[in-house]
Amino acid sequence: MNLSVPGRTLTAAVFALAGLLAAGAPAATAAPGAQAAALAAPDIPLASVKAHLTQFQSIATANGGNRAHGRPGYKASIDYVKAKLDAAGFTTTVQQFTSSGATGYNLIADWPGGDTGQTLMAGAHLDSVSSGAGINDNASGSAAVLETALAVSRAQLQPSKHLRFAWWGAEELGLVGSKYYVNNLPSAERSKVAGYLNFDMIGSPNPGYFVYDDDPVIEQTFKDYFAGIGVPTEIETEGDGRSDHASFKNVGIPVGGLFTGASRTKTAAQAQKWGGTSGQAFDRCYHSSCDTTSNISDTALDRNSDAVAHAIWSLSSGTTVPPGDFYENAADVAVPDAGAAVTSTVTVSGRTGNAPATLKAAVDIKHTFRGDLVIDLVAPDGTAYRLKNSSSSDSADNVIATYTVNASAEAANGDWKLRVQDVARYDTGYIDSWRLTF
Ligand code: TRP
Ligand code: ZN
Ligand code: CA
Repeated sequence: MNLSVPGRTLTAAVFALAGLLAAGAPAATAAPGAQAAALAAPDIPLASVKAHLTQFQSIATANGGNRAHGRPGYKASIDYVKAKLDAAGFTTTVQQFTSSGATGYNLIADWPGGDTGQTLMAGAHLDSVSSGAGINDNASGSAAVLETALAVSRAQLQPSKHLRFAWWGAEELGLVGSKYYVNNLPSAERSKVAGYLNFDMIGSPNPGYFVYDDDPVIEQTFKDYFAGIGVPTEIETEGDGRSDHASFKNVGIPVGGLFTGASRTKTAAQAQKWGGTSGQAFDRCYHSSCDTTSNISDTALDRNSDAVAHAIWSLSSGTTVPPGDFYENAADVAVPDAGAAVTSTVTVSGRTGNAPATLKAAVDIKHTFRGDLVIDLVAPDGTAYRLKNSSSSDSADNVIATYTVNASAEAANGDWKLRVQDVARYDTGYIDSWRLTF
């Protein structure tokens, strides 16, 4: 088992640009100006998770009251989750299968980057039973996994492991979707799945805090989270193998997960430690029509959503590339008088997704008549962004300026060039240095 629990000590790997230059390194390629180490998981906003529950409820209401396999409310749920993930920069795949004569769908979302040979998965079943909207079972797990994935995107998490999120179809028919996924995963691919985290029913209205007793590292990661917020946990015993983690466990993949209880009754001892009502089911609406947005403990949903994020951050050993990172080329480049354009390149790597709408290009060009100069920022795909035009009336020296470029249509990673052309005779100069700040 390859998962490890990161230590509490953070190594702040800060590359001091000045140090590199002082050491005599020719700055022919860019040096990242700062690189932050990992990483506390963010707080997952309860309001955002609940907003997804409201959407799942509306989808059920508009589609005959459920989101069950083979019913239109299921496909509408898939479309809702997929659209959020696509907009956030995930690579999504809808996997179709057939069960009981109806088409079913799994949704798989890969976060670009990380070691695909060490893939950490998290998933939840997205289908309800046909008798209700399935908000605790299992819009709760679906929404928490979705909001954690969106948090990965917001943080631009750069984990050492590859992250893959999944929403399963037809769980209520016997783990059909997750079994289909695992059975169709070539054995070489199965062995790359370092762990699978399952979230099925995590907002029960009379909640318990149950951790699956499976892989010890995953289990300890969840226990550490709850210990940190002072909430006691118990081992999940209401039905091992009754959710999608069983499909993974059956082929030897390490699994873990969280659960707040279904039809079993809360004992007096449990009510003592967790509050709520003893002698009553954890979820009196389990598999029934009253499993609506009213059938949720906000406290349980909030804690468990944060626990999902904690596990994803910890187990993937994520690091972030924060805003404010810069990439600089300080090598001098002569700009020939009334000659061809010259360029200076910085190589950006290790980022995810596109460049920001407020990409800053700070240029330091020494010149004896700056009106001679035309300056462009050239994106990795060759798109040029004009920073400055020539002007025969601008006789001042030097261009020392920071330009803001809306580069949100450009991939962040790759070779960015500062292109400078001197278009008028007599005065000359050179690119002293320039940097891109993300
Ligand atoms: N969807 C599951 C089911 O209907 C709910 C469930 C019951 C469950 N017991 C569980 C989920 C234990 C996880 C662990 O069976
Ligand atoms: Zn369920
Ligand atoms: Ca000139």
